[in-house]
Amino acid sequence: MARDFVAPTLPRPMAMGVACVVLLLLGCSKGPPPSPETEEEDLFHTACVRCHGKDGTGGPPDSLGHPGPRNFTDPAFQRSRTDDQLRLAIEDGNRGMPAFGAVLTPRQIDMMIAHVRKFDTSAPPRAKPASSAASGGSR
Ligand code: HEC
Repeated sequence: MARDFVAPTLPRPMAMGVACVVLLLLGCSKGPPPSPETEEEDLFHTACVRCHGKDGTGGPPDSLGHPGPRNFTDPAFQRSRTDDQLRLAIEDGNRGMPAFGAVLTPRQIDMMIAHVRKFDTSAPPRAKPASSAASGGSR
């Protein structure tokens, strides 16, 4: 009995489709690893932005009569606080400011201090090599 001959290979267009998907997946898996900067941004965004604002300018006093969140872009505020004072404020809270000492790790609190400092408009821009923009800023 003669059998119909069936080619054991995939139809050519389908094989090419599979190859494309594999290439796409390989491409996607090479995304940038999360950087410390991203973690810092994310944390400030989740924990602090609702009161302090994305731009760090704070807001008006709350309805209980607590003072409004500080304006982190005010150079006078930045000059009036040491890093240790910022740490205490973040760890222990103050009136309208919740205490984060039990929620954040010391490393995360360091990140938040650094982040608060970045809003200082009087601070000289952080030294960055001229090539950092071209290289994508990787360190
Ligand atoms: C529920 C609102 C709220 C949230 C959330 C919040 N803050 Fe505040 N924050 C305040 C208020 C209100 C003040 C002003 C309190 C005062 O001066 O008595 C303040 C003050 C501060 C100060 C200045 C303290 C000083 O020395 O005068 C720092 C620094 C600060 N917050 C950092 C943070 C960080 C970092 C986060 C996120 C981890 C955060 N805050 C989350 C409301 C908030």
